[in-house]
Amino acid sequence: MSVVALISGRGSNLEALLQAGIPVSAVISNVAGAGGLAIAAQRGVPTAVVKHDDFPAREAFEAVLAAQIDRFAPKVLAYAGFMRVVTAGFAERYRGRALNIHPSLLPSFTGLHTHERALAAGVKLHGCTVHLVTPELDSGPIVIQAAVPVRADDTAIALAARVLKQEHVIYPRAVRWVLEGRLVIEKGLVHVKGGDAQLVFSDSA
Ligand code: GRF
Repeated sequence: MSVVALISGRGSNLEALLQAGIPVSAVISNVAGAGGLAIAAQRGVPTAVVKHDDFPAREAFEAVLAAQIDRFAPKVLAYAGFMRVVTAGFAERYRGRALNIHPSLLPSFTGLHTHERALAAGVKLHGCTVHLVTPELDSGPIVIQAAVPVRADDTAIALAARVLKQEHVIYPRAVRWVLEGRLVIEKGLVHVKGGDAQLVFSDSA
């Protein structure tokens, strides 16, 4: 009953998982020196680095990454700021047990620079989403969302900080649901056994 986390950077979502008591058995980064590796090491969580640029092709990188992941036979594969687009084959391999945290209210603003794009679009409500990983980027079934109001005078930095705070609330919840086997997926929609709320509303506008 363990979790393997994939990271590329600072690791604040990883830290939120650890602080919430999620049993993370390994952290794997595609970037040497990623901040999250130090967070894991401080807590005695084993780490590994598989650098994508050491490989000629995505498939070769993913074969080594999968071998590292599978050593821990995780119940959940948690993408925690993992900034690589994966192949359909890799997504399929972990289908149903891989989660991603994305900084927008999907299906709006897939991809990068979500906060800047939300401000440019003039949306009044932004937020973050945990979804199951499928072969289509940022498009898998939605597990939980947190909504964050946009302020009239917002900046991308301020908005990102308020959204990140909510990421740290919803990601541990979603990972725990998968660990507890409480997700039911019907016609592409996710339900949680027990009826826990799949929406968090941050009113700290
Ligand atoms: C978060 O905003 C997450 O939603 C996105 O990448 C960022 C990672 O931040 N996928 P951190 O490394 O967890 O601090």
